Amino acid sequence: MALTGLENNDLKLIIFGGKGGVGKTSCAIATALALSENFKTLLISTDPAHSVSDCLEQQIGFKVTKVAGTGNLSAIEVVADEALSVFISEHQSELKKLLETSTNLDNQDIDEMLTLSIPGIDEVMSFKTIIDFIEEGQFDKYVVDTAPTGHALRLISSPKMLDEWIKVAARMRWKYRYMITSFSGSYQPDEVDTFLLSLKKTVKRIENILQDNTKCEFIPVCIPEAMAILETGRLLEELGKSGTIPKQIIVNNVMVSEGCDFCKTRKSGQLPYLKEIRDVYSGLTMVEVQMFAEEIKGLHALNRLRICLFGTSQNNQNTKNQYN
Ligand SMILES: Nc1ncnc2c1ncn2[C@@H]1O[C@H](COP(=O)(O)OP(=O)(O)O)[C@@H](O)[C@H]1O
Ligand SMILES: [Mg+2]
Repeated sequence: MALTGLENNDLKLIIFGGKGGVGKTSCAIATALALSENFKTLLISTDPAHSVSDCLEQQIGFKVTKVAGTGNLSAIEVVADEALSVFISEHQSELKKLLETSTNLDNQDIDEMLTLSIPGIDEVMSFKTIIDFIEEGQFDKYVVDTAPTGHALRLISSPKMLDEWIKVAARMRWKYRYMITSFSGSYQPDEVDTFLLSLKKTVKRIENILQDNTKCEFIPVCIPEAMAILETGRLLEELGKSGTIPKQIIVNNVMVSEGCDFCKTRKSGQLPYLKEIRDVYSGLTMVEVQMFAEEIKGLHALNRLRICLFGTSQNNQNTKNQYN
């Protein structure tokens, strides 16, 4: 079976997730390469380990960069900390005013609070960066590589976290509003209210795209091993709570060769796990990827993986020739 439906014009955002080391980065890049044949594609890594640069053997970083050796593929590594500091510096005055008008903190306390990290806010900012890209509309497809499961889940649940924060801020504002109205009889919404409203819109925008399975698809990556299967189960359960329902699952590192005792043993050891994945996820299309003898590094190796994921169509064949 091959990955299907990703070329659908409505589908904008494709997110890969799963346990550490199962092949998310490799599959995300191979998918982005395949899509970039026909679509202007942006590969976005939210993994702080910068593995996209390592796998592509090209320096990417926190700036949209054309991937050398490809026609229409660009990439960016979104660093959550940096996304957060960009947000704080862009909205410094609104955040300061929110705290000044709503609390009894002095200036030094407020400066300290602004430098403190709010749990989860960095992931929120990563996702906001992704949504901003989608809304700018410079690309047709956005392929996201995430760090291991916990991170992907935080990313997916980020709108909820931001919503909680906005609620607290709105309560603080409400008290301020009440006070001003009591003193002066009326209240004019200011830049802090506008800022909170725009954040609320961000939450809605993120939720709307995550829950719209014509626009967004989450592809879990798993391997035929006990721990990975357990973690995939937890991942899919949590995803379901956010309304994100996958359609297909990649099972990577499947042993094909029986050429030696080692391979035979590995292969037969995988059989019960493959059966378990097939049984448990019978509703999902299962895309098996063989274990290669070499690691997947550089465009040539990524193209081999891409052929496993998408089959060898005419287009794939052209690209195969280009990389071979
Ligand atoms: N099908 C495969 N065959 C051989 N090596 C693979 C395969 N898929 C991934 N790898 C290798 O496994 C390691 C982990 O893959 P990676 O894509 O970085 O996983 P993740 O992003 O889930 O941590 C990398 O060294 C990669 O080259
Ligand atoms: Mg990775």
